[in-house]
Amino acid sequence: MKLPAEASSTRRVGAPRLLVRGGRRLRGHVEVAGARNAALPLLAASLLPKGRSIHHRVPRIADVAILRRVLEHLGAAVTEADEDPHTLHVASESAAGHQVPYELVRRLHAAVLLLGPLVARHGIARVALPGSSPAGARPIDQHLKGLRAMGAQITIEHGDVVVRAPRGRLQGAGITLDVPTVTGTENLMMAATLARGRTTIEQAAREPEVEELGRVLNKMGARIEGAGTSFITIHGVDELRPIEHAVMPDRVEAGTLLVAAALTRGDVTVRGALIEHLGAVVAKLRAAGVTVTALDGGLHVRGPVELEPIDVATQPYPGFPADLQAQFMVLACLAGGESLITETIFEHRMQHVAELMRLGADILRDGRTAVVQGPRRLSGAPVEARDPHAAAALVLAGLVAEGTTEVLEVHHLDGAYGGLDQKLVALGAEIRRLPGAEEVDP
Ligand code: EPU
Repeated sequence: MKLPAEASSTRRVGAPRLLVRGGRRLRGHVEVAGARNAALPLLAASLLPKGRSIHHRVPRIADVAILRRVLEHLGAAVTEADEDPHTLHVASESAAGHQVPYELVRRLHAAVLLLGPLVARHGIARVALPGSSPAGARPIDQHLKGLRAMGAQITIEHGDVVVRAPRGRLQGAGITLDVPTVTGTENLMMAATLARGRTTIEQAAREPEVEELGRVLNKMGARIEGAGTSFITIHGVDELRPIEHAVMPDRVEAGTLLVAAALTRGDVTVRGALIEHLGAVVAKLRAAGVTVTALDGGLHVRGPVELEPIDVATQPYPGFPADLQAQFMVLACLAGGESLITETIFEHRMQHVAELMRLGADILRDGRTAVVQGPRRLSGAPVEARDPHAAAALVLAGLVAEGTTEVLEVHHLDGAYGGLDQKLVALGAEIRRLPGAEEVDP
């Protein structure tokens, strides 16, 4: 006998799609969500103290939902506040688990952020090693190098990395990172908060999200100096306490909205787009001829009639962010002249190039460098997203392409951006979200 779920002759396959009709100018005000890359480490840090931490302005994205499942798997109780779905309470008293299975890490590379808190709290952490990701290899050797310097014994067992602190507690150490890894710096900061003695991290990542983590950990009672600079000092303490805080605004979503306004010759105020976090991005927008004005707590942007070509090379903060490279390539497609876009951080973050070419872009790619000739009139077509930022870029391209652009595999977008399509619609874009395609069972 067939169960009811099996009885149907059709089923949904694939992720939702977006249909974007080009040609609308964006106007109005929009509010940036809380930052994905701040929320993830801050939620992981809830495991360090025992008690209930409260996080406000948490973005409603699939990646947070996965991390929530990880925390629950470890025994924490995570609840949404009745009055605000962006507020999460994480009660960590009974979080006795120390193992994060592959099933969850596979879907969220950032689950490696649990290594630091788990080994700090339990003296042992067992986290599945992340495999490959759409951005290419994402090694965690620097995370492990730092933990090893702090006395941890590290083994790889059945696909998991197992980190053990001798006698249950790490020992402060001097660490020099070979690359300023963001999550690596965050993991080591969290691990060091409860270690014995002093830890220093040289060549630390300087991203604003690292600075925010340092600020929140200090609110928990940690003793961290220099978070947000390349030299961080952490004096270990015996215990931390739970906190309440609001996640900083997402500079990647902010930058994406700024580009959307610029491309469509729009006139948009992006609240929560902070000039102090977006210096390199605003400089490139201005170089492209876009008028950007800093307001109190936001940025106002007005797109020009004609965009100028730009040269962009991604760099660790305060350089130009890798997470906005794809979006700026769309800008380059419309600019009058030759632009040069170079990806220096990730191996495979140029998968949008072939998709943009399906829309009529003129791009010559050589490895991690793309020479973009503009201006091109883009024309709508089905295109496939392979990572969140490529997905965002394809939506932006759809805003200016003639006719309809169908962006497939939108689950990539939903992993990192909460309701970007709805925000663009509120500014005047014409975008429709469709469920996954239907397929008839044989
Ligand atoms: N790297 C190493 N060894 C390590 C760690 C990193 O060689 O142990 C290399 C990487 O291969 C890469 C470079 O260092 O070439 C920078 O990687 P990083 O570790 O800084 O990236 P991440 O911490 O894994 C964070 C963000 C990403 C964002 C990148 C770059 C979070 C949760 N993630 O990733 O945001 O693209 O920094 O700015 O903060 C994403 O996770 O996909 C994302 C949207």
